[in-house]
Amino acid sequence: MTIELRPLREDELREADGIYRRAFGTLCGLTDPLAFDGDAERVRCRWASDPGAAIALLEDGALAGTNFVSRWGSVGLLGPLVVDPPRQGRGLAHPLVEEALRLLEQPQVAFRGLYTSVTDPRTVGLYQSHGYWPMSLAVLMQKATAAGREGPAGFEALSRLTPDAQAEALSACRELSDQVFDGLDVTGEVLSVGEQETGDTVLLRDGSSLAGFAVCHAGKGSEAGSGRAAVRFAAVVSGEGGEERLRRLLEAVEAWAASAGAAVVTAGTGSGRVGAWRTLRAAGWLPFQQGVAMHRDRHPGYDREDVFVLDDWR
Ligand SMILES: CC(C)(COP(=O)(O)OP(=O)(O)OC[C@H]1O[C@@H](n2cnc3c(N)ncnc32)[C@H](O)[C@@H]1OP(=O)(O)O)[C@@H](O)C(=O)NCCC(=O)NCCS
Repeated sequence: MTIELRPLREDELREADGIYRRAFGTLCGLTDPLAFDGDAERVRCRWASDPGAAIALLEDGALAGTNFVSRWGSVGLLGPLVVDPPRQGRGLAHPLVEEALRLLEQPQVAFRGLYTSVTDPRTVGLYQSHGYWPMSLAVLMQKATAAGREGPAGFEALSRLTPDAQAEALSACRELSDQVFDGLDVTGEVLSVGEQETGDTVLLRDGSSLAGFAVCHAGKGSEAGSGRAAVRFAAVVSGEGGEERLRRLLEAVEAWAASAGAAVVTAGTGSGRVGAWRTLRAAGWLPFQQGVAMHRDRHPGYDREDVFVLDDWR
């Protein structure tokens, strides 16, 4: 058996997408595993946002599994990791994790995290053998949107701004996330939803300063799928008033999602982010999926009470 690891190529995306759906669809017990995730296109979106961060594993020349990393400045995420079901249980996941860790071995990456299911006992053990540790409960919540609902004052979508104003907003987003966690930078996600037209970045202002922002996907071909919107990352300025800022940002996200044709919007947080979790619940969001956030070297990360961040690490 020969194993080859290399960047996933564009002409392999269809096959990689099939493996991704088969792996998760089988895990979820779907009668048609390929129906997993509907018309959402997580594999294509991740590849398009950073082709060098998409890893292909070939077994005897055939695509057998993939893994992805997300490089958010000082934060490096791993996943989704999949091995084609007929090829599982033969040790192929290990080289895919090792390769992802190699891609995250950059001096600016201080914190490495991942989300995994708690229903499959295999995954926690797999990641533990690569230095990750289960740290907190990761929750994904959702809310039905109300069509025609106005967003709060100070809300605008990045794509509606002039190029100069967009550049200014982008640097304000970078500053805000850097204040939340030193070096955290989701510029790549912001640019990616804009360039791929898979979503937009919702901005919330307090006067002339940025109070918060949310990078969102919506619709077919995005990471959300038809009739759905998904917050990949959102943050508001930490400290006093954080709950109120997050409440307003959620209103803005809901209004944007409804205008993008989504009937449901999703977002994630962690059990350490007490204020963020409570704010979501108070705003009528309901948990629909729970997993575990694993941190490499037990790094504390940003899952803290005073941090008002929403993130979806899947
Ligand atoms: C998770 C997944 C990638 C593992 O792929 P795989 O090729 O079957 O994994 P491997 O054969 O390399 O095994 C990796 C480790 O899993 C664990 N493992 C495997 N089978 C196990 C079992 N039956 N019980 C407990 N642990 C098990 C072990 O720690 C194993 O390490 P070892 O080789 O030191 O024993 C694959 O099952 C998959 O695609 N699942 C669906 C998608 C998913 O859940 N992805 C991960 C979350 S993002």
